[in-house]
Parts: sequence; C-alpha cells; structure tokens
Amino acid sequence: MKELQQRPLKHVIVCVNERENEDCCINVGGMELFLYLKNYVKSNGLSGSVWITRSKCLGFCNSTGAVAVIYPEGKWFTEIKEEDYEEIIKEIKLF
Ligand code: FES
Repeated sequence: MKELQQRPLKHVIVCVNERENEDCCINVGGMELFLYLKNYVKSNGLSGSVWITRSKCLGFCNSTGAVAVIYPEGKWFTEIKEEDYEEIIKEIKLF
C-alpha cells in the first residue's frame, strides 16, 4: 500500500445512484448537481484543490433532491434542488 500525498482542500461527493422504481438521486438531479459543480471547479481553475466525485447511494435517498457531502467539514446535504446550487458553491469557495 502506498499513501497518497496529494489531497484536495475540499472534496464534494455527490450521489448519482440509479435504481428502478425507488427513490434515487439520478431522478432528483444528482447528475445535474455533479456536472454543475464539475463545471464550476474547472472553469474557476480549482480542479487540483477542489475535487468533485460522484458516488453510488450515500444512504439518504429521497424524492425531493440530490444528496452530497463536503469534506473536510463533513457537512451533509440532502434534498438539494437547483436553487440550492449557489449555497453549495459558497461551501467550496476557497477564498
Ligand atoms: S440514491 Fe442517493 S442517497 Fe441513496
């Protein structure tokens, strides 16, 4: 095993899980949130310091909005809708 020395200053994990006939983040904007954050990070030159990762189920499935967690704070958000995106951006702004 080799420990990586590279670490992000912020790491956002966004659920994009898909399931048939059940609540899942792909049906409530998970992929849209993931792509929005990826685009923000890339267009603001933050790719090396803010990582955006998509994941399978994070365990807070709902029928209202996406689920994400931001580290190192360990802040969890659920029921994220498009009107909440700017609030998520505020959380990952470094300066
Ligand atoms: S499907 Fe996203 S938290 Fe479960």
